[in-house]
Amino acid sequence: MTTTKIIKRIAVFTSGGDAPGMNAAIRAVVRTATYHDLHVYGIERGYQGMIDGKIKRLETSHVGNIIHRGGTILKTARSMEFMTPEGRAKAHDTLVANDIDACVAIGGNGTFTGATLFSKEYDIPFIGIPGTIDNDLYGTDLTIGFDTAINTAMEAADKIRDTADSHDRLFFVEVMGRHAGFIALHSGIGSGASGVLIPENSDSVDDLIIQLKKSAKRGKPFGLVIVAEGCKLGGAEEVARLIKEKINHYDTKITIIGHLQRGGSPTCIDRVLASRLGYESVNALIAGKSNVMVGILNNKVSYTPFDDAIAKDKPINKELMKMAEILAL
Ligand code: F6P
Repeated sequence: MTTTKIIKRIAVFTSGGDAPGMNAAIRAVVRTATYHDLHVYGIERGYQGMIDGKIKRLETSHVGNIIHRGGTILKTARSMEFMTPEGRAKAHDTLVANDIDACVAIGGNGTFTGATLFSKEYDIPFIGIPGTIDNDLYGTDLTIGFDTAINTAMEAADKIRDTADSHDRLFFVEVMGRHAGFIALHSGIGSGASGVLIPENSDSVDDLIIQLKKSAKRGKPFGLVIVAEGCKLGGAEEVARLIKEKINHYDTKITIIGHLQRGGSPTCIDRVLASRLGYESVNALIAGKSNVMVGILNNKVSYTPFDDAIAKDKPINKELMKMAEILAL
């Protein structure tokens, strides 16, 4: 996917759920582009801002003092209007009115779906940067925000473990991830959870009970079970109810960590990843690439067509699942 178009002015925007590290990516895009004498424009609130003409010049000083900040200075949104041909026509008008030659889109699945639809109708190259705490995009080992989110979830689980231990309670801690279990698996391993339930597995209540009984047998009177929000059995509340139905001697509690996982200062891993991907997205545009997501696979830069990044499955590491179970015994 290449284009011969000469790029002079690019637009950058963030879309979908915010993720810690998005600001570091914006900074890298602006500074790399400026280094190459390109002009950069920031679009506010993702595709909705593109439709509404919310676009402003971004110079290198505008992205100072943001590398450590969570959220996104460009704001974000999930635009339903952009999913319509009329919405995309208005967005195209904004880009043309501002002489934008190419765009850098920072976001997840929905963001790249929008870019794919747009690219079928208009000839403005897009490069995607994977920014989502869910880590659910094919074509990159890590997405921006995932590392920060798992550290936040792990720290929360550590705190819950203290009180679970003091009261001999069984806690069900629900973490985000939409349809993917990456956050649950990693924060579960990191916090030494007694059980991890993820959508990629067909977990059963009976298996979890066996697991809990094993830890009880070795004298552990409390427990911490990490439940991915997309777990097939249901969220933490439902799983706790199902367990209670079968064994009711546990004093069970539920914690839903929620949007805490989306905020906060990005970890160093997220800042470096975001800086690398921002830098490489501009290099990719200059090299004539279009409609691909830039990612890192085995420490090497990779380019994945949007269609693949969205549709192909990113498998969970089954060996890590097995390990989590063995180490919880
Ligand atoms: O995709 C990121 C994410 O935080 C998911 O983990 C979660 O399911 C969803 O967004 C929540 O979306 P919203 O902030 O719109 O409620």
